[in-house]
Amino acid sequence: MQTSWDHRFAHRTSGMKSSFIRELLKVTAQPDVISFGGGFPAGELFPLERTKAACEKVIKDNGQKALQYSTTEGYTPLREWILEFSAKQGLKASLENILLTSGSQQALDLIGRIFINRGDRVLTESPTYLGALQAWNAYGVNYVTIDTDNDGLNTDQLESIISTNIKFQYVLPNFQNPMGVTMSLERRKKLVELANKHSVPLIEDDPYGALRFEGESLPTVAVIDAEVNKRSDQVFNGNVIHTSTFSKILAPGLRLGWVIAPPEVIKKMVQAKQGADLQSSTFDQYLAYELVKGDWIDEHIALIRKVYRERRDVMLEAFEEFMPEGTTWTTPQGGLFLWLRLPEGCDTIELFPIAVEEKVAYVPGQPFYPNDGPKNTMRLNFSASNPDLIREGVRRLGNMAKRSLATIKHRPSMRTDE
Ligand SMILES: Cc1ncc(COP(=O)(O)O)c(C=O)c1O
Repeated sequence: MQTSWDHRFAHRTSGMKSSFIRELLKVTAQPDVISFGGGFPAGELFPLERTKAACEKVIKDNGQKALQYSTTEGYTPLREWILEFSAKQGLKASLENILLTSGSQQALDLIGRIFINRGDRVLTESPTYLGALQAWNAYGVNYVTIDTDNDGLNTDQLESIISTNIKFQYVLPNFQNPMGVTMSLERRKKLVELANKHSVPLIEDDPYGALRFEGESLPTVAVIDAEVNKRSDQVFNGNVIHTSTFSKILAPGLRLGWVIAPPEVIKKMVQAKQGADLQSSTFDQYLAYELVKGDWIDEHIALIRKVYRERRDVMLEAFEEFMPEGTTWTTPQGGLFLWLRLPEGCDTIELFPIAVEEKVAYVPGQPFYPNDGPKNTMRLNFSASNPDLIREGVRRLGNMAKRSLATIKHRPSMRTDE
């Protein structure tokens, strides 16, 4: 007899939903659909030959170690490389501050495991990264939200909310997913000031920080906080948990990310990670180290920045040409995404089947709002398609939007002359 599983699942699974994006993108997996939906880096920039040579070198020089179990904290030379990489961005820390994770997504999951009790109030941006919501929903979290605009999270709104029993705040200051916006320096400082004043920890998710292709580089929230909570030694010990990843500078298939946090937090995360997966892949860590340890990685990151900037520009130009009047969009200074707002009355979830007919895909904006948000927004990825496809895809999106607006105008309830 076939077992019925539904009533056997733990209560917390009722908060688990399949990722809206991943479900939706299955529809668009056909090769003739131009997809701006996924958060994919440009696959043609992956260093295939170099990776092949690095695999061979790891096997030749360290084969047994690389295929063996290893420590939960991660391969020390790779952790040391991350410390150097972070120090170049002003974030000084030591080995006891750093944990290697299976993608930065795992860092978010571990944060949920060690911090969130049922009913806890967690402050997020609105809209925010869907994967964080997916990681934390199972723990019965209550989201308290602050609007994000072109200058990032609106710290004016934060003043009155931060004192309302918030467990932690989750922020994406650099090229935010989904909007592509950057938090201003003034707001970063205010955020750190308020977080310290009210003793509310800050989770800074920074997967895209190294991919700035325009504008002045700004200190991360972790760097600003370290200034406030200054210590004489190299140990990072403040109010911030900072996460980042190799996914966007090397390859997401490696599933390698990291957390920089006070030692007390790292110790607890290590315990949680032992229960989850013991450690991240030893082989992948050796491989990543082999790839990043020389000067090549700097050239590679520079190349990624150049290509993404060109693609962003092509997308922005195509909007000017093809999108209907009244459409607005963000202009990211880095990262992979931008945010488009269609004229009032358009509903990007309702429009999705029309987009699929036009053979173009995007992610509707509404699921990125933890509570509720406008219906006329969408997230578009500009890193994964070449310029010709970007132009053609935006032309198709423009057609879809114009078709939708024509029907809206003909709906009796929308007529303004009645
Ligand atoms: C804001 C943000 N955080 C975390 C992640 C997870 O990335 P990964 O697990 O590949 O490091 C992503 C992936 O796109 C992201 O956009």
